[in-house]
Amino acid sequence: MALPHGPVHWLVTRYDDIRSVLAHPAVSSDLTREGFPNARAGTVKRAPGFFISEDDPDHGVLRRMLTRTFMLKNIESMRPRLSRLTGRLLDELAEQPRPADLIENFALPFPSLVICELFGVPYADREVFQQNSKVLVDLTVTAETALAARDAITDYLLGLLKEKDRNPGDDLFSELAVRRVRTGELTPEQAAGMGSLLLIAGHETTANMIGLSTVALLRHPDQLQRLLAEPESVPTAVDELLRYLTIVHNGLRRIALEDFEIGGVTVKAGDGLVIPLQSANRDPAVFDLPDELNLSRAARNHLAFGYGVHQCLGQPLARAELQIALPAIFQRFPGLKVAVPYEEIAFRRQTVVYGISELPVTW
Ligand code: HEM
Repeated sequence: MALPHGPVHWLVTRYDDIRSVLAHPAVSSDLTREGFPNARAGTVKRAPGFFISEDDPDHGVLRRMLTRTFMLKNIESMRPRLSRLTGRLLDELAEQPRPADLIENFALPFPSLVICELFGVPYADREVFQQNSKVLVDLTVTAETALAARDAITDYLLGLLKEKDRNPGDDLFSELAVRRVRTGELTPEQAAGMGSLLLIAGHETTANMIGLSTVALLRHPDQLQRLLAEPESVPTAVDELLRYLTIVHNGLRRIALEDFEIGGVTVKAGDGLVIPLQSANRDPAVFDLPDELNLSRAARNHLAFGYGVHQCLGQPLARAELQIALPAIFQRFPGLKVAVPYEEIAFRRQTVVYGISELPVTW
């Protein structure tokens, strides 16, 4: 397979093989290694603290500093606040002239506001991370442009960390500034890198899931009705939507550090691996009639959040946000409709995260 960065790589497609590769101790996420199958042409650089591109043990040390914030118990306690925020944003949407853009008015501000509150980032500064995150997930820009966008978020966060050190609050960045940077456990650059990873991962993903799920539910009205009538079925439905849509759709990337066997072939040290999660999530050996959306399906074993040591840290938050936002949209606007023909919906395909740029809706 030809990629901007190298000659031939392995495309891993079966569910079992994908899990084996992602859990294999001899695969690396370090995108600066010679031969790494990067998605973009150009020079790549690893930012300090951007632990999604680091290997253990360094990766684990940084990740563990954040696990408390994302623990299920902590996220569950946020549910009443998430519901109130959803209600407020949907009320504001109701005041908009129709058709209104669901992405701009709800799908993006909802997760953005949530992470701003959790991390202690002033929402008024959202331009910095919303704009630059959009560039970062765009696969049509060069590696240099993507790097500049990431650096802009990191520079902003370096300033914010200083502010938190002077004036700490009850939020994640204050905790990093006071407990980790002051003590010398993290450099300010590492803390800012961790923060930029969280900001980017935290809103681009959920925002796109909300947009795409809304369209998917409107195209399956019987299932939508059942979902609204049976609130206890919402968690199962959200996992099926995560499986069906698999928004991190450009293939996770890894490089082999040693020779190993997978699915009957030998992967050699130095070989690149491209791992499309949607292929695992549509594997008929694991999911019956995988191309069908079936909200009653028990799909929690899907790989939309990845697998292995880098499996999504934010998944309890993402699940809670989707479980609250999706039913609320349709309860608030029972007659919700997309205001353009399906063919005209602005799907974003050339991106790390599949999604929708704009979704005009009416009700
Ligand atoms: C529907 C929403 C989401 C999806 C589908 C998703 C998907 C993923 C996937 C596939 C990975 C694995 C990447 C890899 O192995 O290379 C990942 C990692 C990660 N995600 Fe998410 N994510 C979502 C929401 C979030 C949220 C809300 C946050 C935080 C606020 C978050 C934070 C992270 C972080 C920090 C990592 C890196 C973990 C590590 O390297 O140990 N994600 N996500």
